[in-house]
Amino acid sequence: MQKINSLDEIFLEEVKDLYSAEKQLTKALPKVAKKATSPELKSAIEEHLQQTEGHVNRLEEVFKMLGKPAKAKPCPAMKGILEEANDVLSQRANPAVLDAAIIGAAQKVEHYEIASYGTIVQWAKQMGRDDIKNLLGQTLDEEEKTDQKLTGLAKTAINASALRPDGE
Ligand SMILES: [Fe+2]
Repeated sequence: MQKINSLDEIFLEEVKDLYSAEKQLTKALPKVAKKATSPELKSAIEEHLQQTEGHVNRLEEVFKMLGKPAKAKPCPAMKGILEEANDVLSQRANPAVLDAAIIGAAQKVEHYEIASYGTIVQWAKQMGRDDIKNLLGQTLDEEEKTDQKLTGLAKTAINASALRPDGE
């Protein structure tokens, strides 16, 4: 394994990891949207799928800005989060309970992404690359808003329905 000597190098590694993570997510989200019953949840996930495609494009833009080829480095963390989500979503469950589980799984994805983008946005700033910082800052902002939206959906309706799935 090559020794990583600079922030520039570790930054590039992290961009490659996120490129893999976002691509995995674009494949997984359509299945998750299909499983959701609440129309608000379904549309929140579909909206985030569109954003995620934009996140892939922004990362490709960053590779260009760095003068590097767009190359993914397999992200085992996202793979694991999505495997766990898939296990939960494959169970037979009451629709309202499943919606609550979907929110939980989606928030794990968002928190991983927020941690990763939060880190590299700061690194870009440190490296004096405000252009990259601003571009990836937009993605970070969208991830945070999605996370907040999911929390809102859980609090306003979905967790309550999951508690009394048969409307008792
Ligand atoms: Fe994303």
